[in-house]
Amino acid sequence: MKKKLNKIAKDTNLFLKRFINKQKKSELIIPMKYGLFSGGKKIRSKILIDIGSLFKINYRSLIIIGSAVECIHAYSLIHDDLPCMDNDTIRRGKPSTHVKFGESTAVLAGNSLLTMAYEILSHRDLDIPEETKINLINKISECSGHLGIAGGQYLDLSYEYKKISKKRIIEMEIKKTGRLFSFCCAAPLILKKRNKKEIKRFEDIGADIGLLFQVADDLIDNKGSLFITGKKTGKDKKKGKATLISLLGEKNTIKYANKLIFKIKSKLKKYGSKSKYLSETLEYILNRNK
Ligand code: IPE
Ligand code: IPE
Ligand code: MG
Ligand code: MG
Ligand code: MG
Repeated sequence: MKKKLNKIAKDTNLFLKRFINKQKKSELIIPMKYGLFSGGKKIRSKILIDIGSLFKINYRSLIIIGSAVECIHAYSLIHDDLPCMDNDTIRRGKPSTHVKFGESTAVLAGNSLLTMAYEILSHRDLDIPEETKINLINKISECSGHLGIAGGQYLDLSYEYKKISKKRIIEMEIKKTGRLFSFCCAAPLILKKRNKKEIKRFEDIGADIGLLFQVADDLIDNKGSLFITGKKTGKDKKKGKATLISLLGEKNTIKYANKLIFKIKSKLKKYGSKSKYLSETLEYILNRNK
């Protein structure tokens, strides 16, 4: 699993470096690269490749689409760490982008990474029909804006120090984190021009995988250490974040996460042994320590 993730990370970074190097230079490129290449597990790309393998999508297309996803993910982390959001000074074991380059630069580098995702998906490097590109861009936009990352981040911040129901916590976590995973699960079906119903089924699986990922991130914040995670831990409690742990306690949250894995796996049963790569990714997501 680690080996596969490393290979995906290497191939994604290589594509992104080449893509950026082909462009004209600008001052923002340095903070953008800092946010993009400072590490990162590339788990979203792994999910894309796992689902892509169920539908026999070629690896290069998946790496390019994953690169666009990683741009959006990097943007979301740069903004998440800003003083007006989580106010975190360490990310991936290094000073957060705004600490290193200043707040306004971090905002603009984040914006530029978000739009770079659309440049990548609309670029001729991605050798798929134009109509499919539009469908991918449509879906990734939906997953990033007010119904996805931005909307979820809004809820995350507005729920601080409040008692929030389980249902609303889950809705918030699916928006801020789950929707980008929904895109990763839907993209292979969009490439295959599958119907709306089938795409929706995979978006729902993605939402559950993303929810699992965020619940595991919350568990790591609760128990992990800066030395391993590369980010400060214990901060959710300090900031009064509404999480399943704050509502149900750690033990019940772990139970909930295991139930989620069972639910996701049962939805993939019909793909038989082909879904084994996704299964290993699910186990990794819950058992990781960073
Ligand atoms: C952290 O995401 C933010 C969440 C959505 C929980 P990752 O844990 O995927 O961050 P990197 O890219 O590996 O640093
Ligand atoms: C971040 O969630 C979700 C995003 C969409 C960026 P967190 O705020 O829990 O992520 P970390 O713990 O700072 O990485
Ligand atoms: Mg946050
Ligand atoms: Mg944060
Ligand atoms: Mg966290």
